[in-house]
Amino acid sequence: MRPIALGCDHAGYDLKEFVKNHLLSTDREIEDFGTYGPESVDYPDYGMRVAGMIDRGEYERGILICGTGLGMSMVANRFPGVRAALCNDLFSAIMSRRHNDANILVMGGRVIGTELAKQIVETWIDTRFEGGRHRTRLEKFC
Ligand code: RB5
Repeated sequence: MRPIALGCDHAGYDLKEFVKNHLLSTDREIEDFGTYGPESVDYPDYGMRVAGMIDRGEYERGILICGTGLGMSMVANRFPGVRAALCNDLFSAIMSRRHNDANILVMGGRVIGTELAKQIVETWIDTRFEGGRHRTRLEKFC
């Protein structure tokens, strides 16, 4: 898999650092597009940066984290080539790949803990798109 683009705001910073370290410790390639500290920032700046790169095909997959995951989802899904899925549970993470071919995983740093986030990330990276009728459905709006 090509490198995964990471982005977050201040509310997602701690979880982004955790996810980044986990991915690096399992030999995944990542690119961290910030934010790089806990100081208050605006989530659209970081969401647009990562979503824009996915939209342009510069990265295949991304992970965005803000406080709830809601703002990052809204921002990312404004880009035509982006299918961002807010997954604060494992079932959503699985289905977002199987049925929706999600290319950005969004999580809420104020919603879930690190162990669940680790499982969500692992599952989301490893789960394949099923294609078939799900591709037909995606083609209706992508
Ligand atoms: C920041 O306080 C918070 O609003 C942001 O991280 C996110 O949850 C927005 O949807």
